[in-house]
Amino acid sequence: MKEKRDLKVQAIEEGTVIDHIRAGQALNVLRILGISSAFRATISFVMNAPGGKGKKDVVKIEGKELNVEELNRIALIAPKATINIIRDYEVVQKNNVTLPTYVEGVVRCINSNCISNSNEPIRSKFAVLRSEEEGVTLQCLYCEHVISEDIAENLL
Ligand code: CTP
Ligand code: ZN
Repeated sequence: MKEKRDLKVQAIEEGTVIDHIRAGQALNVLRILGISSAFRATISFVMNAPGGKGKKDVVKIEGKELNVEELNRIALIAPKATINIIRDYEVVQKNNVTLPTYVEGVVRCINSNCISNSNEPIRSKFAVLRSEEEGVTLQCLYCEHVISEDIAENLL
C-alpha cells in the first residue's frame, strides 16, 4: 500500500516534504511560502492523494530546508500539515506546524477601508487567534476586522 502511494510522487534525496496538507490546499501552501516561478528548487506536489485518513495534498521541495517561521505560516491553511526534513533519502526530522501568534505581509485585510489596503506602503499585520467554535481567525491590527473562513482566499 505504501509503495503504491509513494509512486505518485518520487521520493526525494534532500529537502523538505510538507505532508498531510488539507486536500486542495497545495497551491495555497506554495503561495503562503512565497514560492513562485522565480524559485530555483525543484518542486513537486500531489493534490488529493489517497491517505490513511482520507485525501491529502503533499508538497516536496528539493535541496532546500525552509525555516521554521516560513513553515509555520502553513498552519493558517493546513493545521495538520507535517514538515519532514529529508537527508540522503531518509526522514531525519518530522514536526507538526505550529500556529504563529502574529503574521505580517501574508494576508490581505477584508476591510477595503483599512489603511493596509490604501496606497500607503503599509504591510498587513494580524494577530492570530484560535477558538474551539471558529478555528483559526485573524484580527487586523490596524482596523480590528476579523477574517475567519476566508484566509486562503485572501493570501497576498
Ligand atoms: N518522503 C519523500 N522522500 C523521501 C522520504 C520521504 O518524499 N526520501 C516523503 C514521503 O513520501 C511522505 C513524507 O515524506 O510523504 C514522510 O515520510 P515518512 O515519514 O516515511 O512517511 P509516513 O511514515 O507515512 O509519515 P507520517 O507518519 O507522518 O504519515
Ligand atoms: Zn484591516
